[in-house]
Amino acid sequence: MTKPRVLSGVQPTGSLHLGNWLGAIKNWVELQDSHDTFFCVVDLHAITVPHDPHELAKNTISTAALYYACGIDSSKSTVFVQSHVSSHSELCWLLDCLTPLNWLERMIQFKEKAVKQGDNVSVGLLNYPVLMAADILLYDADLVPVGEDQKQHLELARNIAQQRVNSRFGSEEKPILKVPEPLIIKEGARVMSLTDGTAKMSKSDPNEGSRINLLDPPELIVKKIKRAKTDPMIGLEFDNPERPEASNLLNIYAIVSGLERQLVLNECASMGWGKFKPLLADALVETLRPVQTNYAEIIANKTELIDILKQGREKAEEVASKTIKRVRDAMGFLEA
Ligand code: TYM
Repeated sequence: MTKPRVLSGVQPTGSLHLGNWLGAIKNWVELQDSHDTFFCVVDLHAITVPHDPHELAKNTISTAALYYACGIDSSKSTVFVQSHVSSHSELCWLLDCLTPLNWLERMIQFKEKAVKQGDNVSVGLLNYPVLMAADILLYDADLVPVGEDQKQHLELARNIAQQRVNSRFGSEEKPILKVPEPLIIKEGARVMSLTDGTAKMSKSDPNEGSRINLLDPPELIVKKIKRAKTDPMIGLEFDNPERPEASNLLNIYAIVSGLERQLVLNECASMGWGKFKPLLADALVETLRPVQTNYAEIIANKTELIDILKQGREKAEEVASKTIKRVRDAMGFLEA
């Protein structure tokens, strides 16, 4: 029996942080045995906001190295670079011509990012979710493991596949594209900023202290946790909307320590911040230590990594070329 297919990706913009790991990559690792897993480094997405051409390739390699450092296994998963498989751009264009503009104008992330960009908003930023739909639909993905912030984009990909492609160019018995399901694991789905428990931890926050990057050295992790926003209450608790910082930090502690929520409560419910923060910093340092050791080894051997990415590209192209042909044929293009 064939395994269900998984596709996901992270943008190579700056360092990956705890949210990227707990919301996405950690869950990818767990799917590798039960699923046919494809993970791409979405470099075409990284140019939807102004980027530095001297950093793009470096960040792309570093992101791929982090996938492996976090436990992605080259014998189980296909890892590749999005821009190396040209079908992503081609399918994006085909889907562009089928997607109503107002579906994109509604996207929350576009609205948020567009405000920050002012007059300089690119067409690419608006079009970003269609490229993401192309990434997913090209691989006939059954499941897409992502954080909560990508839910609306996933819904869009489903609508494009179902309403704009399958129902117009296919039939119920012969759909053109597979309609994917999101996989959002509640625990890590929304890791919040260290400086504001109501805002998402994000690469684009100008305050470095708002996030823990996966490659932050131990002393920096300790410093960031020490400075993380707190509240005047004593004791820690989950899910109290009046105490977003307490809830976020306790949640992070529960995930990285691997303890059940009740055990975490037994341990921390009556702790003051002064006792809890070193405990959390320690757990983070210990959890990230093996990731950082693996990363150093992998990045020291770039040639091997580039070779693995080439093999990934070939496997990805094999699948993607079949889908793109199916869509071209269904839409009525003259055969090449
Ligand atoms: P990106 O690069 O912003 O984030 C990568 C993954 O990390 C998750 N994430 C978080 N999860 C929990 N808490 C947070 N604070 C947090 N911040 C980020 C994101 O949900 C995501 O899963 N558009 C996507 C990349 C993409 C993609 C795709 C994903 C392009 N094509 C195809 C899946 C399938 C993005 O910008 O993710």
